[in-house]
Amino acid sequence: MSAIDAPPDLASPFPAYRGLDDAALAERIEAVRRRMGRRLVILGHHYQQDGVIAHADFQGDSYQLSKSAAERAECEAIAFCGVHFMAETADILANRPEKVAARGGRRVTVVLPDMAAGCSMADMAAIDQVEDAWEDLGSVIDTADVTPVTYINSAASLKAFCGRHGGIVCTSSNARAVLDWAFAKTKRVLFFPDQHLGRNTARTMGIPLDEMCVWNPHQPRLGGNAPAAVQRSRVILWQGHCSVHAMFKPEHVDAVRANLPGVKVLVHPECSMEVVDKADLAGSTSYIIKQVQAAPPGTTWAIGTELHLVKRLEQQHPEQTIRFLSPVVCMCATMYRIDLAHLCWALEHLETGKPVNVIRVDDETARWAVTALERMLAVK
Ligand code: 13P
Ligand code: SF4
Repeated sequence: MSAIDAPPDLASPFPAYRGLDDAALAERIEAVRRRMGRRLVILGHHYQQDGVIAHADFQGDSYQLSKSAAERAECEAIAFCGVHFMAETADILANRPEKVAARGGRRVTVVLPDMAAGCSMADMAAIDQVEDAWEDLGSVIDTADVTPVTYINSAASLKAFCGRHGGIVCTSSNARAVLDWAFAKTKRVLFFPDQHLGRNTARTMGIPLDEMCVWNPHQPRLGGNAPAAVQRSRVILWQGHCSVHAMFKPEHVDAVRANLPGVKVLVHPECSMEVVDKADLAGSTSYIIKQVQAAPPGTTWAIGTELHLVKRLEQQHPEQTIRFLSPVVCMCATMYRIDLAHLCWALEHLETGKPVNVIRVDDETARWAVTALERMLAVK
């Protein structure tokens, strides 16, 4: 009996799946998809490896995936091929109280194939730190005049904090529109956890650097700022970053410009301001894909974002020259944890009604997080 013919051994621990080759795993994943049909939706972020993306019903950036989860009323289960905060967001949006009521009380089960698929940036802001910062800020400025904005790359508890305090969630594709929304309401914004997306976006709005300060949550008082620095700031930037995008450096842009005449440098706004300033274009993963898709044959690109997406673009667009911006490998190790073995393991358990790695945000957190997420989804 080949591995493909073998019935799933659900009693076995995950390592049993490790022994299967990719073709066997792919076949078993497709078999679950066929049997579950529309009851199952597999969502995949653009940074997922090709073998995993091949099984996704829908591929997208963080914003598109949130929208997609919010719209999935009919399915019974979502397998999220991405990272933890994305699966949490899918659970919150797919299981809004009115949606659950419309389904007669049935929840959509959301699973993350590998629970170790986290996000180091999201881990840079903890709810206790944000609450302490809010209180500390209140000693020098009026927090009624501050909108907290959390990048979607954050724990559900931070989204709930924003929900409770008149704040909002943003993604890399709507950060500008979200900041416009926030500044229409209040004089200042507390932006967490990604300082780079916050700074890059605020700069496109003409906010000068001396009206921004960086809040180091490990400093005992005012994030390491003098009271006057906080008081003159319109944007208070949490000192967090993406360790993948931090690896792109301004000198990499200089090097590709010297070596590739006519190159267009296209980067993600999680890169530092120095890199974004030297680039030709900056935007979300979907924006990056659209730029390449729309470019004429013969265009030369150097792209600064996660390796798997750049490699896929390179394969899909042989009519263009596509290079990785950095000479060193910049890949998201946690996104990469989702592989065929974990996906197969998660799906086969899901199908038998004994799901593993279920992501379930508690009701109180979800109630407030959905407020902040719905504000984002309403921003045009
Ligand atoms: P987007 O796909 O929304 O651009 O986000 C990139 C990212 O880092 C996801 O973790
Ligand atoms: Fe987090 Fe960066 Fe990985 Fe995105 S690429 S999931 S921000 S560590």
